[in-house]
Amino acid sequence: MTFYTFELPKIQDERGNLTYIQKGSQLPFEIKRVYWTYNVPGGETRGGHAYKKQQEVIVALSGSFDVIITSKTGHKQKIELNRGYVGLFIPAGTWRHLENFSTNAVSLHLSSTEYNADDYIREFQLYLK
Ligand code: TYD
Repeated sequence: MTFYTFELPKIQDERGNLTYIQKGSQLPFEIKRVYWTYNVPGGETRGGHAYKKQQEVIVALSGSFDVIITSKTGHKQKIELNRGYVGLFIPAGTWRHLENFSTNAVSLHLSSTEYNADDYIREFQLYLK
């Protein structure tokens, strides 16, 4: 399975936009955990690791940042997230990091698992095995 972006519902009127995620067909997994990062200093990198089991969807709730996905051959693909109605699905076993955060960027992460430090692969060399 590979990563992909998809659009969430966007309900737009003169009062602004509204987007939602609910149980059902929008996500390929049931959400067990939600976390978000914010106040990320300019130039900082986050999330340089892979998960053994966890699948996730990332949304740029505010501002913008890039998600870089690195294949086992070292090939890098950049996904720019800057819309509150675009989700990026990342399957388990994907090496990814986030960079190029704008001022006030908020990255929302919807996870298929509860937090478990043992699910992290934090060294690229181990990931290759
Ligand atoms: P970390 O995974 O290093 O952040 P990032 O992936 O953005 O680089 O997590 C930072 C700290 O927060 C680390 O000590 C683990 C802790 N943490 C939790 O306790 N629960 C969570 O759901 C997450 C994502 C992290």
